[in-house]
Amino acid sequence: MTVEDAAGQRIVLITGASRGIGAETARVLAARGDHVVVNYREKAKRAQALADSIRHAGGSASIAGADISDADSVRALVAGIVEEFGRLDVLVLNASGGLELHAGPDYAMALNRDAQERLVRLAVPHMPFGSRIVFVTSHQAHFHGHKPVPAEYEPIAASKRAGEDVLRAMIPELIARGVALHVVSGDMIDGTIIVQLLERRNPDAVTARRDHGTLPTVTEFATAVSLATTSPADPGHTTYIGGQDYLDGREINV
Ligand SMILES: NC(=O)c1ccc[n+]([C@@H]2O[C@H](COP(=O)([O-])OP(=O)(O)OC[C@H]3O[C@@H](n4cnc5c(N)ncnc54)[C@H](OP(=O)(O)O)[C@@H]3O)[C@@H](O)[C@H]2O)c1
Repeated sequence: MTVEDAAGQRIVLITGASRGIGAETARVLAARGDHVVVNYREKAKRAQALADSIRHAGGSASIAGADISDADSVRALVAGIVEEFGRLDVLVLNASGGLELHAGPDYAMALNRDAQERLVRLAVPHMPFGSRIVFVTSHQAHFHGHKPVPAEYEPIAASKRAGEDVLRAMIPELIARGVALHVVSGDMIDGTIIVQLLERRNPDAVTARRDHGTLPTVTEFATAVSLATTSPADPGHTTYIGGQDYLDGREINV
């Protein structure tokens, strides 16, 4: 079951949607008729250009700046959505980071674990029965502790896995409120800034992934994230995109 208003439109918040996978997910969901709230941290012009292009294509979008690692900022984000729309039907937890210049040693955990839980706790009281939360992650994070991770990605992988664990622990209380959590995990996604940077800094890490097969594209991954917002699968279900070698003989069932 999913929720929609009388016009059949869901209110969707996508964190970190000013570029990359979040931006493409916004385009895909707007094309199916959702109103997408494009959250960004600092790239307001880029977020506005995306919202304009969605509207130009006949869709519905607005932008909302907020650093989701900042408690006041994220409280204002949720309050603004409630004030404007009265509810939130879909929350896509896409924003991620930790390797930014000037980021302190605790920032990855603060963003990828603590901020995810805080946002969910703030949003859920405004999510009607039948709403959906989608946590976006990478295979390197999802399988953290079970598969090797390049050294420079270790803090991200560990913190995103910790974030996923915290959210999974919330599944019973989310179910009680009629909100389903789904996880979408991807291999390295071709064409993203992160993979372009990695190709410069540690080309062997990218080549090693390409040796296992063609990397998924941003559109393929964003489409999977979008489908997870309507999937009939049970809460806690994980959709895997690319990286079949991660799945062969996996020891954890999450
Ligand atoms: N790239 C990959 O190969 C890959 C593979 C598998 C999974 N994923 C997952 O897909 C998701 C998106 O990845 P991506 O490569 O598209 O990311 P990206 O290009 O680095 O974009 C990150 C987005 O998050 C926003 N952001 C960063 N910190 C934020 C904060 N504190 N508060 C609010 N927004 C913040 C950025 O906004 P500003 O630009 O305004 O700062 C930007 O829109 C992540 O969860 C990632 O783990 C990525």
